[in-house]
Formats: sequence, structure tokens, C-alpha cells
Amino acid sequence: MEYKQRSVNCGQLRQADAGKTVVLNGWVHRIRNHGGIQFINLRDRYGITQVVVGEDAPQAVKELAEDLHMEYCIAIEGKVIARPDSMINPNMLTGEIEVEALEIQILSTSEVIPFVIDQESDAKEDTRLRYRYLDLRSQGMQERIKLRHEFIRSIRNFLSGRDFYEIETPTLIRSTPEGARDFLVPSRLQAGKFYALPQSPQLLKQILMVSGFDKYFQIARCYRDEDARGDRQLEFTQLDLEMSFVKRDDVLSLMEDLFVEVFKEVMDYTLPSTFRRLTWDEALNTYGLDKPDLRYDLHLVDVEEVVKKSSFGTFKTILEEGGSIKGIKAPFSEELHYTRKYITALEEAAKVYGAKGLAWMKVGPNRTLDGGISKFFEGVEEEVITLFDANEGDMLLFVGDAWKVTCASLGAVRIKLGKDLNLANPKEFVFCWIIDFPLFEFNEDEGHWEAAHHMFSMPQAQYLETLEEDPGSVKGDLYDLVLNGYEVASGSIRIHDVDLQKKIFKICNIEEKEAEERFGFLLNAFRYGPPPHGGIAPGIDRMVMIMSGQSSIKEVIAFPKNSAGISPMDDSPSPVDQEQLDELHLCIKE
Ligand code: AMO
Repeated sequence: MEYKQRSVNCGQLRQADAGKTVVLNGWVHRIRNHGGIQFINLRDRYGITQVVVGEDAPQAVKELAEDLHMEYCIAIEGKVIARPDSMINPNMLTGEIEVEALEIQILSTSEVIPFVIDQESDAKEDTRLRYRYLDLRSQGMQERIKLRHEFIRSIRNFLSGRDFYEIETPTLIRSTPEGARDFLVPSRLQAGKFYALPQSPQLLKQILMVSGFDKYFQIARCYRDEDARGDRQLEFTQLDLEMSFVKRDDVLSLMEDLFVEVFKEVMDYTLPSTFRRLTWDEALNTYGLDKPDLRYDLHLVDVEEVVKKSSFGTFKTILEEGGSIKGIKAPFSEELHYTRKYITALEEAAKVYGAKGLAWMKVGPNRTLDGGISKFFEGVEEEVITLFDANEGDMLLFVGDAWKVTCASLGAVRIKLGKDLNLANPKEFVFCWIIDFPLFEFNEDEGHWEAAHHMFSMPQAQYLETLEEDPGSVKGDLYDLVLNGYEVASGSIRIHDVDLQKKIFKICNIEEKEAEERFGFLLNAFRYGPPPHGGIAPGIDRMVMIMSGQSSIKEVIAFPKNSAGISPMDDSPSPVDQEQLDELHLCIKE
């Protein structure tokens, strides 16, 4: 069908265009009939324009207007009319004008839509994902996809300006698990063999360094067969980046420069030129976890000295057994009142991380302590109150346990308080670096050490001698970037020495033969002059999620999977024909 192509878009017309004859193409967003006059809100990616079919409109136009329904795709030719001042709609880009229809063409019709565009919050998630093409028409999704595009474009511009090459690496690679489960792809040509989809381009980017491409980046798709949660998807996108001849601070300051520029360009938001740095120990001791939300300054307080002076036997025993006691102050709140019920809810949050309970006391008038465990602190009230810088109405909460349990449990209490007391400003973005992570973690289930990040990260120099004797104490040249309580990037300076790399494999219980089988290609490359190198990988989805104020990365991905790993729109994963299985030399186990 010949149709009238748009001369302007639906977000473009202003008062100065009054008198022009224009053509608009778009979707019928809303239709209203006011005493015989039809108002059609026509929508496209750029905005909404109000079209009027008045009593004087040609008969054919009036008849066609009667036939229109929501989400019909139409072309309208009409005359731009300035609205009288009293009718100007300041909430619409095109609120100064309307278009009087002279001709309407229906380009395609729409069935009754399962949910109204822009009222998507009412629709269930699976309905939104099944009809994702409709969901994506909403203003919110359109804005977020635009933000994502602008974010990536700005990153590309910045890095190109700093001499980086964008290099693609394959998505069919050897299975070299990095921590999560691999997605496997059976090979037709090589019976019984499999490719894996990369969990990240980690080893390939390191090999690119061996090849001399000393500044590499890629907007890389990554695949991990793990449970999808709010900030996780089976497939996601990283800004993957690697550099040669750099030390940790070179990587950190490059990232700071990048985010300062990108946030300014994309959000008109001014970040500080450097981000706060916390060691892993500091982060845990002060905020309870290694991804603290620093938009608010609620922090854990070490109370061991005052506990020793108290008569609280339970805590004293924990201290004698090498445990740790910390507290946190919940500032006075008119809304929460810190009822028993609320304290129980805080305790539940703490218990998720292993705390056996959450002890508490309140600060009463005239610097007194009330309720809970306060009776054990008679005589040291002033010391407790000073330690927490507390005031009347504040509540003090305590956990005593093994150090990590104490930190993590109070970290969870801190997050809940932050949320319930609305301590974080949703319009603020606070980055921080976490450095000096432990290189290894002990896997209790399997009874051996494993890499806390991945196995290619460099131990800090002072631990090289004692690596095998005391893996638990080794700190690595590792860093995470945290934004508003989310880990948004991880990276490290890498090992570029075959012997050291083999030592790390061994500590992680990977025998030489297995290491050779799994990572032989990297070790081979390292036999030919590997440069010192390091890098990082910010998660694009997570960043855009935070930048757009969302709490699920599905809101910033065009076609995400649901939490069961299913895409309701195309119903993948799906069964395949016997013929396809035969070609791949596969049979399904019942
Ligand atoms: P890591 O595994 O920590 O490091 O991932 C880096 C960043 O990627 C994002 N991310 C995810 N986003 C959405 N869904 C997921 N399932 C998911 N998993 C990770 C996070 C995370 O901070 N190769 C190393 C990086 C390096 O050392 O250079 C790596 O992949 O934002």
C-alpha cells in the first residue's frame, strides 16, 4: 500500500509550526470523544501529538476516525494549530499545538491489547515479557533503552579517544568455567564435543594482551547458567576491558575518568573526579559487606571494649572464643517507633546471614539506656552512648558471632534500616572502590581453597612467599567498583607468569593435568613473552538499571528471560526435533 510517510515525528511540533501542513506516522495511544469531536493521541518514539477530528473535518476522515482503536498504526495528514494559552499542556512536548486531521490512513490494525501501554505496572511480569513488543512501546522502556544506547555510545567514544581498540572475541569457545556453570553448545562436526558460551571474555582478553593489543575493550555478551535474580540474568552484557603495562591505580583512574565523563554526558550528573577507596576489611568492618551503599552514613561500631566492662555473659563468652561483637545505631524515627514487631523484622534480616539473634537497647532520656540488654550495661551507659554518638529515641542493635557472620548480619540490618528510613537519596550516585580482597575463599562443602574472584588474579607481592602456607591470609590485586550498594564491576591485575599461575591452580585443587587440559592454551600463550596486564569489567545492565532508578535488570534489557530462565515471548528454551538431536549426536535422558 502506498502510504503517506511522516514529514515530522510525534514529539517535534511547536507553536512556531502553526499553519504548516504535516504528515505524522504513529500508533493510536488514546482516543477520546468530546461532544462529537475526536481527540486522537498519536504516539511514536519521540513523543505524543494530539490530533483533532473536528465537526468540520471531511466526512471520510470522520468515518475513519470512528473505526480507530488503540495501537492501530496510522498516518495522519493535518494542519498544525496553535492551542490557545489556556489549553497549552506543559506536560507534553507538543503541548503548545494540535493537528487538525485532513486525511487519515490506517496502516495496520491491532487486536485488543492485553495491557494498556504506559500502565504496564499493572501487568504481570510474564504478560509483559510475552508481549514484550507492546511493553517496549511504553515511555519508560523507550527511555531506558535510549539511556542504554547513550551509555554504550558514550563509553565507546571515551575509550576510542583514549586509544583503545574494540575487538570482538568468539562466543563459541572452550569450556573454561570461571565460577558459574557454562552453557554448552554441542558440535555437529566434532561428534561428542562441545563449545561453551563465554562466561566472560576473560582468557581471550588476556591472550589479546600477549598479542600486543595493549588497550582493548568490548561490549561483550556473557552467559552464565545460574539462577536469575533481580540483578542477574543468564545472558548479560559487560564492558570488558584490559590493558598492558598497567598497575592497579592506572585501571582505577581510567574508570573514574570514564564514569565522570559518561555520567556528565548521558545524565548531566557531576561525579567527583576520584572515588572513595575502602579495603575489603574496612568495608566489612564499617558497613558489614563489600558492596556498601554510601549514600548514607550508617556504620557498624566495634563494642568489644565496652562489652568487656559489661556484665553480659553471652557476649563476653563470644569474645573469649575469638568472636566479634559489633553494633549499629538505628536513629530515632517517628514512623517506625522501633516496636517489638519491627525489631523482630530486623532480627529476621540478620538471621539470614547466620546471626543467632539481634540484641538491642534503646536510648532513654538523660543519657540512659532502656530495655533489651540494657541492664547488663549498668555503669557504662555513658561510654555506650558516646561510642554510638547516640541521642534519646535512638535504638542500638548488636550481633556477636564469628567476625564474618557479625559483619554480614549487621550489614543486612543496615540495608533494611536504610530502606525503611529512606536514608538513600534516589537521585544520588555514589561510587566507591573496594580493594585488597582476599585472593582465596575456603569452600567448606568441597574442603579446599578456591579463587575468590577468578584464578587469574595476581596475589599482592608481600604474600608471594607464603602463598601455599596460608592461603586464607593472602590479599590479591583485586578491585570491585560499587555503586549505590551494587557491585557494578570487578577486575584485577593478572598473573602473567606460568609458574605462579600453576601454583594458584594447585592451591585451588586443580591438578597439573587438569590445568593443562582446561587452561593449556593460556599457559601456552604465556610461554611467549606475556606482558604485565590487568583489567576490569563493568556490568552494563546493572549500571543502566541503577542509572534509571530500577531494581531489576529486566527493565533495561530489550528481551530478558524470566526468573525461571524462560523467554515467554518466543517460549525458549524449547524442545527440538529428533533429527536435530541426531545431527548433534545427542539423545535425551528420560
Ligand atoms: P565478574 O564475574 O565479577 O567478573 O563480572 C563483572 C561484572 O559483570 C556483572 N555481572 C552480571 N550482570 C548481570 N547478570 C549476571 N549474571 C552477572 N554476572 C556478573 C556485574 C559484575 O560486577 N572476567 C571478570 C572481569 C575481570 O576480571 O576483568 C568478570 O567477569 O556488574
